[in-house]
Amino acid sequence: MKTLVIVSHPNYKDSIINKRFVDELNKYKEKYTVHIIDEEYKDAVIDIKKEQELIENHDNLILQFPFYFVNCPYLMKKWLDEVITPEWAINEHGTGEMENRKVAIGVSIGGKKEEYGKDKTYLYIVEELLRPFESTCSYIHANYRGFYPFYAAEYEPTKEDIDKASKEYIKFIDSI
Ligand SMILES: Cc1cc2nc3c(=O)[nH]c(=O)nc-3n(C[C@H](O)[C@H](O)[C@H](O)COP(=O)(O)O)c2cc1C
Repeated sequence: MKTLVIVSHPNYKDSIINKRFVDELNKYKEKYTVHIIDEEYKDAVIDIKKEQELIENHDNLILQFPFYFVNCPYLMKKWLDEVITPEWAINEHGTGEMENRKVAIGVSIGGKKEEYGKDKTYLYIVEELLRPFESTCSYIHANYRGFYPFYAAEYEPTKEDIDKASKEYIKFIDSI
């Protein structure tokens, strides 16, 4: 079955990294469905049933977003809060829709890797900052498979850097 990639970017039209990642994913439409929720829900009113059915009709789930205040942007959080309801995701018989589903993250990060960690600007490494997602996956019995980071997005990455990362991102998704 195909992989579903949920993309949230409040300013997608000006995005460089996330847009390039989406372009790469769209080269393989037989493998990935890319769903840009900010484009779909300009009024931020999410069709919960439609989103749940999308997940049900796919295998793995990727959450892709730019790091905003060391978190996902608001619409991704709203999407998680409203779509991933415990009664749909898990049930006592172990047949909930998120049970054992592989989940991973693709995140673009403005800061450099060296800015993340103890005594650095952001105090913690990105793996630590993404723990709420890892922990949520545990709670809903999903299988958290880690993340692919693109660092230093705000330090004028070259086209070659971004092209290379797009291909690594695809490899990461295929390897989870
Ligand atoms: C409101 C806002 C908050 C941000 N917070 C962070 C942050 O906490 N850490 C960081 O490294 N970059 C931060 N950034 C930079 C974005 O992560 C970066 O611009 C984005 O990942 C680039 O991806 P794009 O080319 O797809 O827009 C922030 C940007 C904005 C607009």
